[in-house]
Parts: sequence; structure tokens; C-alpha cells
Amino acid sequence: MEKKLVNKITIVGCGPGSKKHITGLAMQRIKNADSLIGSRRLLELFGDIEADKYMVNRNYKLLIMRIISLSKRKKVVVLVSGDPGFFSYSKLIIDKVGVENCEIIPGISSVQLAFASIGKTWSDACFVSLHGRKSEFPTLIKMVKERKKVAVLTDKATNLKLVYKGLMSEGIRDRMVYVCEDLSLKTERIRCFKLTSIQRVQVRGLNVIIILDEES
Ligand SMILES: C[S@@+](CC[C@H](N)C(=O)[O-])C[C@H]1O[C@@H](n2cnc3c(N)ncnc32)[C@H](O)[C@@H]1O
Repeated sequence: MEKKLVNKITIVGCGPGSKKHITGLAMQRIKNADSLIGSRRLLELFGDIEADKYMVNRNYKLLIMRIISLSKRKKVVVLVSGDPGFFSYSKLIIDKVGVENCEIIPGISSVQLAFASIGKTWSDACFVSLHGRKSEFPTLIKMVKERKKVAVLTDKATNLKLVYKGLMSEGIRDRMVYVCEDLSLKTERIRCFKLTSIQRVQVRGLNVIIILDEES
């Protein structure tokens, strides 16, 4: 763990993607930043902000060292999508530098917006991320067998088709599936299907999938 840093590293939850969903405090921190660190998508969202910009890609572990070194001279803001506490880069940073060296600004998570969009509660849901984590597939199957409401983060490789195949091969059929795509963006699309009918459904972009049993 690092000793006390000169400037705390601010980790900002940027919400699901549209500027309308960014909180006032998050926007304030972003405007005051000397350096912004984030994915291409998030850096483009703040293209008008005058700050040094560093893109996160596969270099994310090395980038933490850069972030620590920058924070000695600059106000560093790390942009993460949705909420920092929900499957994000923030955990790696906090584990490395210690929570006392971080300021964490919450954001609206993609799952919050997904549940709001379909008008369902999420206090009774459970969550699994397949985003870059194919190994979590057995967890998904277990959750769907045991729980009535499961929200899944997917990516290009671990997508709706894979979820369909996995559930059907386990004999799970009686579920409704909400596919919440590109939430808050111009391409947003929210659709509901019976699990048995999603084989040919095409998806694009970012997706939260909500799997409900028939009675939920
Ligand atoms: C690394 S996780 C980050 C989750 C984020 N911390 C949150 O709270 O939403 C990225 C995944 O979140 C989901 N996601 C993020 N933004 C989304 C959006 N606008 N619409 C649908 N899903 C989204 C997708 O499943 C994507 O693969």
C-alpha cells in the first residue's frame, strides 16, 4: 500500500453514458481535474475539458503507477462508467493506494438505469458480471436456478447468445429476459423476450440483461 499521497486520487462514477446522467458533484470534479484517466468512450464524452488525458486499455495495471506518480503534482480524476462500486477499475486503484488516498464519487449504475427503465425493483436482485469474465458463467447458472431476479453485465464475447445457450443446456426455460441496450445513449433499446425465443435476437453495444422468473 502507498503512503499518504499529496493529492487524493478522485474516482468518479460517470453514469451509463449520457451527460444528462452525470451528477453535479461528478461534473465539478471533472471540470477541476488536471489529468483525466478513462476509457476512450469516457474521455470523448469530456473532450471539451482542458486536462491531460490518458486512455485506459489493456495497460490498466501499469497505468496505476502512472496515476500515483501524476497525483504527486496534479489533481487526477479517474473516470469509470456507471458507479465505481459496481464492477469497475476503482477496486484495483483502492487496493493499490489505500482508501485514505482516494475520493470516490458515486454515479448512476447501468443496472440502476436498467431496473428503472423496466419499472422493477433491484433491492431483491442479484448481480453477476460476465464482462471480461467468462469464468463467471457457472455463477450465472447457479444464480438463475436459485434466484428470481438476476441482472447480468455482458460484453461482446460473453453475450446474450451465450447466456441463452447456457441456460437452455441446463434445462432452464421459464424465464423472461429483458435486454437493456445502450442505456441513456441515442441508440438505447429496451426489449423483453421469453427465454425460449431469444435464439435469433441480435444485440449491439453495451448490454445489461435482466432474467426474471415468470412470477416476478
Ligand atoms: C466494466 S462494467 C462497468 C459497470 C459500471 N461500473 C456500472 O455501474 O454500470 C461494463 C459493463 O456495464 C454494462 N454497461 C455499462 N454502460 C452501459 C449502458 N449504457 N447500457 C447498457 N449496459 C451498460 C455493460 O454490461 C458493460 O459491459
